[in-house]
Amino acid sequence: MIYLKTPEELVKMQAASILVSRTLGEVAKWVAPGVTTRRLDTIAREFMLDNGGKPACLGYEGFPGTLCIEVNETVVHGFPSNYTLREGDIVGIDTVVELDGYNGDSCYTFAVGDISPELMALCKTTKESLYKGIEACKVGHRIGDIANAVQTYCEKRGYSVVREMCGHGIGRSMHEDPEVPNYGRRGIGPVIKNGMCICIEPMINLGSRNIVIENDGWTCRTRDRKASAHYEHTIAISDGKANVLTTFDYIEESLGDRFI
Ligand code: MF3
Ligand code: CO
Repeated sequence: MIYLKTPEELVKMQAASILVSRTLGEVAKWVAPGVTTRRLDTIAREFMLDNGGKPACLGYEGFPGTLCIEVNETVVHGFPSNYTLREGDIVGIDTVVELDGYNGDSCYTFAVGDISPELMALCKTTKESLYKGIEACKVGHRIGDIANAVQTYCEKRGYSVVREMCGHGIGRSMHEDPEVPNYGRRGIGPVIKNGMCICIEPMINLGSRNIVIENDGWTCRTRDRKASAHYEHTIAISDGKANVLTTFDYIEESLGDRFI
């Protein structure tokens, strides 16, 4: 069941999305070699709470953090831990905040210090594919058009698309219908309508598309242990177009010339 949001609800979706974007902007200031991912998690949790938000991932189906931490071969849903970030790592940081009953969800993959050109290219392509998906998100078109735009863009450049994990609708719950895959045929899936709120979140691998879930039941990594990148925006379809509710502007401000 796809819940179409009223204009009043979209105002709340926008506010939650700005808060999650500001949270990632705050976290971005601290991403550096020598920092533990648990430290980043604490910074995010305190920032959300200080700003009236609720860390929506924390305790969600038992998830143990405010942030999902995705170092190198981790695709999604890694736990914050005492792992210390190292120069050359990439780290995806994915999080959701609930504000006034509505959720905002965003993810950004950061470079830790200097990274290899190969990893930089993976991150750039993944981020660009998110915007290709957004461009394909038009009223009257279908979810498959978004999926196909992401897939085509990444596969043309030699990367592979994770199949098992998808984007999703969002609203009062962090995961609502419809599923928003990153692969598939154009012209299939639900029709895109005014009032829809969705998260587009390409998860793109350097090597093969296959994944493994670790014994903790959450951490998803590439089977070949090659790197994976992940970017995500929350988007509202209103006034006949896709409005990107989250923004990477706060991250960009924090990172300056280290922005991918
Ligand atoms: N953006 C992630 C997702 O849609 C957020 C997951 S929060 C978690 O899967 F708690 F489920 F990990
Ligand atoms: Co999401």
